[in-house]
Amino acid sequence: MQSPLGRSRGKLPPLFTGQPFFYPFLVKTRIVPISASSLREACQILQGGDLVAFPTETVYGLGALGLRSDAVQKIFHAKGRPSTDPLILHLPSPDLNQAVTHHWMAAPIPPFANELAKKFWPGPLTLVVPKGAKVPLEVTAGLGTVALRVPAHPVAEKLLQELGEPLAAPSANRFGRISPTDASAVLQELDGKIPLILDGGPCPHGIESTVLSLLSDPPTILRPGSITAEMISEITHTEVWLQSKQKDPKSGMPSPGMLENHYAPQTPLYLCTAPIKSFASPYQFILYQNCPTSPEAQVHLLCPDGKHSTAAQNLYRVLREADQAASSAILIDPVPDSPWALALRDRLHRASAGTANWANGQWNLRPRETT
Ligand code: TXA
Ligand code: MG
Repeated sequence: MQSPLGRSRGKLPPLFTGQPFFYPFLVKTRIVPISASSLREACQILQGGDLVAFPTETVYGLGALGLRSDAVQKIFHAKGRPSTDPLILHLPSPDLNQAVTHHWMAAPIPPFANELAKKFWPGPLTLVVPKGAKVPLEVTAGLGTVALRVPAHPVAEKLLQELGEPLAAPSANRFGRISPTDASAVLQELDGKIPLILDGGPCPHGIESTVLSLLSDPPTILRPGSITAEMISEITHTEVWLQSKQKDPKSGMPSPGMLENHYAPQTPLYLCTAPIKSFASPYQFILYQNCPTSPEAQVHLLCPDGKHSTAAQNLYRVLREADQAASSAILIDPVPDSPWALALRDRLHRASAGTANWANGQWNLRPRETT
């Protein structure tokens, strides 16, 4: 018999075969500034079962009413996302008892969940917990678990409060591509596929939330983010596993969306094995902090003020800029150690085509070994 938290693919709609499928017809996409009337319009569109892109503190989300199967299916169509990749449900309130009462998550609340919610919500932490009966299978990709988060962005918070119910929202990019951190990046990704983008300016954090499964003991980080294992451990007073280091695969739920290739620019990205010192080539270079001496170099800077949070904030915007230069390759500096390093290295590894090193007067590019 299937475990109650395991996948029950048989119940997914027949359309949902796991294959990417693009929304077949074009709509006019508008970017609108934040105002009482644009928020009202966004609510009306969502309540009509359609999609709206909106800012969160991490990246822009592509929202649909999370309890409506038909609306949620449109997210997969617009992104070309396989139906096997579950979505995060964004809640209007950090009160987990309310989430249980509304059947968004199932009782009993797992150990530590209340403490973590009190400490980090609203904020960039997503908790994977047992699914409630009201959550459609499309949201969870047929799993018995659901990922919950309360975003800390005034626009997202206002939208959720006005709706009074959860929004399912992945990052507002086409499947596998770079997550958008401003409204123009959302337009680049989804023009013609969604009616409305709420323009709340650039996202303050710039990389996606930490995803933490509370189904394993101890809890397991499925996707690293700005809330680190140390910060979680201070609340849970337990060890916190990272998925890659997990010893027993049976004791933690894997994250089906954590693909080896993701967040990728169209230009191949190479991770340099040592800080970049040579710019003698037509490539685009992304430097962590130090400015180049060579004026003709095609250089982008991640962290001009030396604060590691700035590197995270700039990462996806800078990758997009380098991608738009239509060069044959992008080379990026190694990420130095900091509390942000694990999340930054994780995204860059998935976005990369291989590694680069400077030897014998030239750049040597090596394709990534696939596992
Ligand atoms: O910061 C964020 O988390 C952004 C903003 C918009 O909230 N959202 C986001 O969503 O990054 P998305 O869909 O791009 O990534 C969600 C991740 C995926 O890796 C997915 O597989 C994982 O969360 N996930 C969702 N539900 C899950 C579940 N029930 N079990 C395990 N992993 C789950
Ligand atoms: Mg995403």
